[in-house]
Amino acid sequence: MDGNGRWAKQRGLPRTAGHQEGVESVRDIVEACAQLGVEFLTLYAWSTENWKRPQEEVSLLMRLLLKALRDETDRLHRNNVRLQMIGDIATLPRDVQNELMEDIQKTQANTGLTLTLALSYSGRWDLTQAVRRIVHDARATTLAQADLSEDTITRYLSTAHLPDPDLLIRTSGEFRISNFLLWQLAYSEIYITPRFWPAFRRDELYTAITDYQRRERRFGMVSEQLPKQGNSGDL
Ligand code: FPP
Repeated sequence: MDGNGRWAKQRGLPRTAGHQEGVESVRDIVEACAQLGVEFLTLYAWSTENWKRPQEEVSLLMRLLLKALRDETDRLHRNNVRLQMIGDIATLPRDVQNELMEDIQKTQANTGLTLTLALSYSGRWDLTQAVRRIVHDARATTLAQADLSEDTITRYLSTAHLPDPDLLIRTSGEFRISNFLLWQLAYSEIYITPRFWPAFRRDELYTAITDYQRRERRFGMVSEQLPKQGNSGDL
């Protein structure tokens, strides 16, 4: 969700106004995904590197996140959304941790959209914690070296319960993955838009999905090997 600061600057507003408007986009996109029947939506809300921002901005964002969780969870729950998080939860402020755990628990039995917030997350952090646990289990002999496969690594990542993303949407015209789901994005389709996150609303989500539906996903194979169908998108 990139570009909150630039969206605000363009309008002569403080960066905080961009983050506030960014929350409105979160609301709109989550609602649109739930209505479309999208099964999984993962929002990269706060990266491991974002902690390096000025203290003032960090605390404002944490307060904004806490408020959004408090204000929105009931609505998410009523709409059958299951909330989850990935990331180093212990580094978040205590009140945010508590709110998250409460909201995740409250919505855990829901069967609609799975909304995952990536908070204090980075792909390298995820791979590091996976390797740490793999080494632990190998030493404790609950994991044999010979059994270590791609599937094992997938199961030790914080996203073990999520499928690999079909589509990655990057806002504000940046051509980077910025330490997001490094392992999981191996074969994801990428859609990049110049719009800043606060201006990214459901109209452009529909454009991104339509664009995705026209792509041919070959997963390293050639066209002729793929099942015959109008498009390979099954979002
Ligand atoms: C990136 O814009 C945005 C962030 C680092 C924070 C995103 C957080 C929210 C939208 C609010 C809370 C989230 C939820 C899930 C309710 P930027 O500040 O990097 O913008 P810039 O690149 O233009 O400076």
